[in-house]
Amino acid sequence: MSEKILQLDIEGLNKDFKDKSPQQVLEWALEKFNPKIALASSFGAEDIVLINMIKKINPDARIFTLETGRLHQETYDLMDKVNTRFGNLEVYYPDTAEVEDMVRKHGVNLFSNSVELRKLCCRVRKVGPLNRALCGLDAWITGLRQDQAASRSDTSKIEVDSSHRGIIKINPIIDYTSEEVWNYIRENNLPYNALHDSGYPSIGCAPCTRAVKPGEDARAGRWWWEPREQSECGLHVKA
Ligand code: ADX
Ligand code: SF4
Repeated sequence: MSEKILQLDIEGLNKDFKDKSPQQVLEWALEKFNPKIALASSFGAEDIVLINMIKKINPDARIFTLETGRLHQETYDLMDKVNTRFGNLEVYYPDTAEVEDMVRKHGVNLFSNSVELRKLCCRVRKVGPLNRALCGLDAWITGLRQDQAASRSDTSKIEVDSSHRGIIKINPIIDYTSEEVWNYIRENNLPYNALHDSGYPSIGCAPCTRAVKPGEDARAGRWWWEPREQSECGLHVKA
């Protein structure tokens, strides 16, 4: 593991950054880990905020996305818009042989058949590509927020990612509310996924995301047919 990581006092950093802005956290992170740091973006509202913040700090800051092959057209439209505006988007695809093997055995819509097969699909289409995207990085940045899900409520701004070689995971807007995210988008006149205007607060793959009804939980539309405690895809599990 890199010396830069070994020398970090994670608890001390979280104390120092407690009342600091996301931009201050990002300035520190980009300075410390550049170029072995990248933002993971699914082009949800949170990621749009972070893309604008990091590109203001460093126009060459790296962004990667996991293109599962099953996204909404609206997400693809936004992906191209963001790439045209900011450039250098690193797009990761699932391993062809793994997808072919999975689909031959279980069908293209295997996620509907059982939680186990849904998790297999997420592993092949998201988790495997994430592992490749993180190869060679010392740190990654995410748009996680504590109030998105109970499973995210104890997530800190700076973490050691024990699922990924112990690299550093930075969650600069972990304590933002949804309102703060949207205020930032409006104030900065940023493009966003058109599905947000049709009742989709949280957007994943097209077959596994639906709009939520008024009063429903923001993540209620993700894998909506499964028990709620199952509703993570494996990108953010703690080892
Ligand atoms: S998920 O685990 O349920 O899919 P969610 O959609 O809430 O995650 O997004 C949380 C954060 O995970 C995003 O802000 C982004 O940093 C990262 N992320 C999720 N999906 C992707 C993706 N397809 N490509 C890159 N990063 C992603
Ligand atoms: Fe497959 Fe659905 Fe997971 Fe996307 S969200 S990788 S389509 S199971």
